[in-house]
Amino acid sequence: MHRHPSALRLFTAISLALTSGACDGGAGSASASASASAPSTATAKTSAAPAPSSEPAGTEATPTLTGSASAMPSASAMPSASAMPSASAMPSVATKPPSQPQPRKPNPRDSWVEGRPFIVDDQARVATLTTASSFSDERLAIDTSSLSEKERAQMIEHFSHWALGEHASIASFARFTLQLLALGAPSHLLQASIAAADDERRHAQLGFSFLRALGVELAPGPIAIAGALEQSSLEQVFRMVVRESILGETFSALEALHVVPWIKDPLFQRELGRLAEEEARHAELGFVFAAWAIKQRPALASVLEQELARFIEPEIRACTGQREWGVLSSEERLALREMTWREVVRPLCQQLCVATAIADRRGPAAAFGG
Ligand SMILES: [Fe+2]
Ligand SMILES: [Fe+2]
Repeated sequence: MHRHPSALRLFTAISLALTSGACDGGAGSASASASASAPSTATAKTSAAPAPSSEPAGTEATPTLTGSASAMPSASAMPSASAMPSASAMPSVATKPPSQPQPRKPNPRDSWVEGRPFIVDDQARVATLTTASSFSDERLAIDTSSLSEKERAQMIEHFSHWALGEHASIASFARFTLQLLALGAPSHLLQASIAAADDERRHAQLGFSFLRALGVELAPGPIAIAGALEQSSLEQVFRMVVRESILGETFSALEALHVVPWIKDPLFQRELGRLAEEEARHAELGFVFAAWAIKQRPALASVLEQELARFIEPEIRACTGQREWGVLSSEERLALREMTWREVVRPLCQQLCVATAIADRRGPAAAFGG
């Protein structure tokens, strides 16, 4: 199979982690230097789409799939570059004045969109969005003066969602750490989960700092955690990891890896490049946990298939792409997601299941290189 370069890189890194003993207590993040291939599966839920271009220069490849990019806010609804956003011009995550921040209406289909979601009761939770406090004093020396008012407003809309998604990922990893403890998981999984939570804190900080560079002071308010730990059996955690990490983080990692070469501002490119590497490690952690869990209970391989079968092609939030600022269009995101599903998620999940089948015949140690 010919893979998109970013997909090949991510697939190879995770595949090596799965075969290098990481799930037995070793390794950690694997190098993505080797080439690898995997058999395709017969469970495709999406039609094949052309792989998005991996080259930042020259003619841009436009994915042929159509997204829902028709609902961009009008220019008149956008906040100005210098003023704090009014209630009517704020991103859709906040529709009340700052003193009465309103929780974002959760949309489970949207939960696949912005990195690792924090899913409770089948809904992706995010914090309230507020102007009443500051998340960080960090100031990014990024010059956004070249943006038009319309472009700036689009960026504020996009990065408000993005920053809240990253903030929710902190909660997701904090919960995952507690669940790992409850399951008696090995130290290397705990270490990776704890480190990932701090990665997400920095990602959220980057998002809100960039919003400041765009001229708005926004911060996350409270995020509801009630009921977040009610489902913590091995199977329940496994199902969450499939949704939040194997799907959510893998999509997020590929988007970040794909867009970084187009970013023009050197500081922003460096920050998002680091973020892309970290998201790739988070996706890897999901697969490594899944391998560990299947090793504990081989029947979970069929649960993996169930969860993948439940996967519904997500709606992509309407967005006009600005690659030089790390923002892909809805069409590009949809095409990337389908490519990620086809070239990364499916073959890696098959690798997990094949390993389990081998383990059934030869013992778990043989299947996972032990
Ligand atoms: Fe993140
Ligand atoms: Fe992440």
